[in-house]
Amino acid sequence: MIHLQKIRKSYPSEADSGPVLDFEDWRVETGGQVALIGESGSGKTTLLNLLSGLIQPDSGVVSVEGSDLAQLSEAQRDRFRADNIGYVFQSFHLLDGYSVKENVELGAVFAKRHAEPGRAEHLLEAVGLGHRLQHTPRQLSVGQQARVAFARALVNRPKLLLADEPTGALDHESGRQVLDLLLSTARSSGITVVCATHDMDVAAAFENTVRVEEMQ
Ligand SMILES: Nc1ncnc2c1ncn2[C@@H]1O[C@H](COP(=O)(O)OP(=O)(O)OP(=O)(O)O)[C@@H](O)[C@H]1O
Ligand SMILES: [Mg+2]
Repeated sequence: MIHLQKIRKSYPSEADSGPVLDFEDWRVETGGQVALIGESGSGKTTLLNLLSGLIQPDSGVVSVEGSDLAQLSEAQRDRFRADNIGYVFQSFHLLDGYSVKENVELGAVFAKRHAEPGRAEHLLEAVGLGHRLQHTPRQLSVGQQARVAFARALVNRPKLLLADEPTGALDHESGRQVLDLLLSTARSSGITVVCATHDMDVAAAFENTVRVEEMQ
């Protein structure tokens, strides 16, 4: 479960304009699927980064899977993130010097975990890329790259999947396919999903939608 309490977050360089996020209480139950919507600059990415422990709030408690992230040392937070959280970035952050299969395996390497034998292949088959294991990301379509990023986010069996505009670079049809895959995989594994999006069609596929401006 995710539970955020009395959160304030501002950036020093933007302090004049007040906090980006300022809200009392927000929860997402385990296995919940939430779309985060809001204007550009409203704080969607900031909220995802708070949930992953990549940044800290000025005040308030960020609790993920029962851990208060502020109580962890930086090393413990890194460990927590590696063990519990998968992140799909808008621009996917795939490495071109490596094959598709290696890109997925690197998700385990960066988390300092032993890659489970066959896990990367299994995930890539599940996302329809079993025939592209030795390609490099540049040799794939953008929709296929999104699916590699998604497979990499699942390689460590996360409990929470965070996605920042995962379909932003895709056309409607391939965006829909990636989204359906993401939601059905998460549902069958009980993974909690929080996904930032501008696209109301994308948001409509989620159980719940939260407008960041209305959290305040
Ligand atoms: N590292 C940073 N330093 C200073 N200000 C920042 C930083 N990151 C974000 N901001 C500011 O915080 C606000 C929220 O940014 P954020 O990236 O969370 O918005 P967003 O909702 O994800 O927008 P978009 O839809 O364009 O991705 C913006 O005003 C932005 O300028
Ligand atoms: Mg953003």
